[in-house]
Amino acid sequence: AQHKVGIIIGSIASASINRQLAKALVKLAPAELAMTEIPIKDLPFYSYDMDANFPPAATAFKQAIADADALLFVTPEYNRSIPGVLKNAIDWGSRPYGKSAFARKPAGVVGASVGAIGTALGQAHLRGVLNYLDVPQLLQPEVYLQFKKGLFTEDGACTDAGTEEFLRKYMSAFADFVAAHKAG
Ligand code: FNR
Repeated sequence: AQHKVGIIIGSIASASINRQLAKALVKLAPAELAMTEIPIKDLPFYSYDMDANFPPAATAFKQAIADADALLFVTPEYNRSIPGVLKNAIDWGSRPYGKSAFARKPAGVVGASVGAIGTALGQAHLRGVLNYLDVPQLLQPEVYLQFKKGLFTEDGACTDAGTEEFLRKYMSAFADFVAAHKAG
């Protein structure tokens, strides 16, 4: 069966290395995963003032999460946590209270940074948020990728054989996890 995976990239930077990683992961994913990005860049700042009347971008974001069988978070670490843009998107998807789009939605968490710890602390913070939102997560393998210039080509090919194999194995484990945990 096909599994619909929504990719949430925790960076809106035009040259985002996490966007590059996401592109590479799509290429390395097994055929049963249909992967599409759920964009976050058009979301306004969340406030519960808008709970009764969601702006169209937030409605579309929430619907895309609801429509996905699973989510793959690909995020940088900013100041040892998750970027504000990602937290903002998650806050939108979680509200109004009792109407979260995230509950029981299986997810993977990966990330790339230029630093040697490869987003480990950022991912730990994200997992804490996802735990609260009742999101089952693939726990192993972990992907803490230290990005080096040229690691991915323009079209998302990985130029390092060891990294490519590691990421392919991750996507295979993720596909198994989605198949085991998706709703219905
Ligand atoms: C960073 N960077 C960074 N790297 C890291 O390993 N740990 C960190 O805590 C931070 N903090 C941080 C804060 C801010 C505001 C910026 C802009 C950057 C560096 C980061 O890894 C690098 O900029 C990546 O390119 C970010 O990923 P994206 O946005 O390119 O996908």
